[in-house]
Amino acid sequence: MILIGFMGSGKTTVAEALAQEMKQPFIDTDEEVEKQYGTTIKSIFEREGESGFRQKEYVILKSLIQEEAIISTGGGIITYDDSKKLLRDNTQHKVFFLNTPFDILYERIKDDPSRPLAAQGFQKVRTLYEGRLNAYHFASDHTIDTSGPLILTLDEIMRLNSGL
Ligand code: S3P
Repeated sequence: MILIGFMGSGKTTVAEALAQEMKQPFIDTDEEVEKQYGTTIKSIFEREGESGFRQKEYVILKSLIQEEAIISTGGGIITYDDSKKLLRDNTQHKVFFLNTPFDILYERIKDDPSRPLAAQGFQKVRTLYEGRLNAYHFASDHTIDTSGPLILTLDEIMRLNSGL
């Protein structure tokens, strides 16, 4: 399974819980980028801009997508065409788009210094979110509302993943 969605949609929390439940490894593309390139996302943005980060993110996604694992991705992964197509065309994983009303997302991310794109103020971040919605739908098999309790999110994902 692969989880996509905006910053603050709960991808990491949900992926960790699913990994435990399904006894599969948990992989986070943000963590893998940092590990592989030996630096932080923040400093990649500072040195190479967003486009440098997106290329690295794609390389990591490509190298991980064959793994049997629960993969959680960075919120903007679908803004890079090759990554978006790779997600959509992959046959190994179902892709779940985790979504929550924007106001809730913003409250969760607005003060996080490790997320360079969250620090632009409410309107700009909302425009970013709205501009990405089509791409999240394009790249995913299912949309999951993550504004409710975690247990309901997990049940729904596992039900959809088993094809019931
Ligand atoms: C980003 C989301 C972040 C991280 C980077 C860029 C984005 O991941 O990849 O800061 O463009 O939305 P999370 O969604 O895990 O915060």
